[in-house]
Amino acid sequence: MSTDRLLDALRTEEIETPAFVYDEAQLAEDARLAREAIRGERTHLLFAMKSFAVPGGLRVIAPFVDGFHASSLFEARLARDVLGWRGVVHLTSPGIRPADADDLFHMSDHVSFNSLTQWEQFRDRAGGVTKCGLRVNPRLSNVADERYDPCSRHSKLGANVEEIRDLFARDPGRLEGLTGLLFHTNCDAFDTTPVLETVLHLDRQLGPLLERMSWIDLGGGYLFHGDGAQQGIEARLPWQRRPRRWPDLDGLHAALDLLRSRYRLDIYLEPGASISRRAGTFVSSVVDLFQSSGRDVAVLDTTVNHMPEVIEFQFAPDVLGDLERGGHHYLLAGATCLAGDVLGEYAFDAPLAVGSRVFVPDMGAYSIVKANMFNGVNLPNIYSLHDDGTLTLERAFNYEDFLTRSGGGQYVHS
Ligand SMILES: Cc1ncc(COP(=O)(O)O)c(C=O)c1O
Repeated sequence: MSTDRLLDALRTEEIETPAFVYDEAQLAEDARLAREAIRGERTHLLFAMKSFAVPGGLRVIAPFVDGFHASSLFEARLARDVLGWRGVVHLTSPGIRPADADDLFHMSDHVSFNSLTQWEQFRDRAGGVTKCGLRVNPRLSNVADERYDPCSRHSKLGANVEEIRDLFARDPGRLEGLTGLLFHTNCDAFDTTPVLETVLHLDRQLGPLLERMSWIDLGGGYLFHGDGAQQGIEARLPWQRRPRRWPDLDGLHAALDLLRSRYRLDIYLEPGASISRRAGTFVSSVVDLFQSSGRDVAVLDTTVNHMPEVIEFQFAPDVLGDLERGGHHYLLAGATCLAGDVLGEYAFDAPLAVGSRVFVPDMGAYSIVKANMFNGVNLPNIYSLHDDGTLTLERAFNYEDFLTRSGGGQYVHS
């Protein structure tokens, strides 16, 4: 879709704010780019639903992928609802509950157990129903911030590579029945050299075990397109300002070659954000404007609770129309009582007014799946934007949604 049509579609009065709009064409394009990036025999692309579990959007992604990666019973159910029994469902979770286990195993083609203890607890129930795998913690960190590093010192994510190596040497029967391994150690990786280093490390540590395996899952955290500002909505506008960055996939391709040639494994990759991030835009309206100690504050009808990673990761999301040398500066604030419910400081070339629309692009990943109703502020309306520029309101939330999630059904009046 051309820039003008995309912006016209987002600016239309038809959208009732706050809103989350997902662009089907962008979802399809980014799924296609991911597919192109990992082409090769025995290499399979899954979409990580944890980043974006909107059923209509999953239906758009489905034709481009071999299946979905799920993290829970609800995600696995949704994967099957969208795919039927055609695609692959791969599940990994640090906390499989005994009560969910049989349903999970039935719905999933592969389950990667997060620990040796979960594997031992469930191996008899899972064996013969699903292909069993083990999540490995290779203990090679690629992520600087400990809070998001799956390889941090006391990480709960995966069994330590040395522990697996020693167990396999000492008592291989304890790993009998496993057919695959999973690792996930990237976060928004533009450089995939660490993936190759990780695969070489596993090759050295777990070679004899890998020879017995038939598949490996290299997780997500990959980016298969250039920097969001260069190719997303903002890039198609004159005010783009971020530097150009493109992913370097050489490391990943070398890792895939090694695994294919040495071990003849089926390989799975399960990116989420690379496919979902650029497709989602928040559309909000200014509801109040005032000065606070000399700064102009614009209060929006959205909140960081619609995009909680803004608080979790402490970043200011891009806002359309924000200019390096814009003359009108505003703190864009959310609608809840939390003092820190602020998107950041932005500069526009024209003043905002009550009713002005504010667009937050590149927010398709990990926003709507984490959004909450703190303060009773309603969730955003969810719209799909079709190729021809028309919109469909997929879901509007209401008082009943607010009540029922905390057990207040007796106050729901039909
Ligand atoms: C096991 C696993 N696979 C895939 C993903 C998807 O990662 P991303 O959305 O960064 O591509 C994650 C994200 O946390 C994950 O934990």
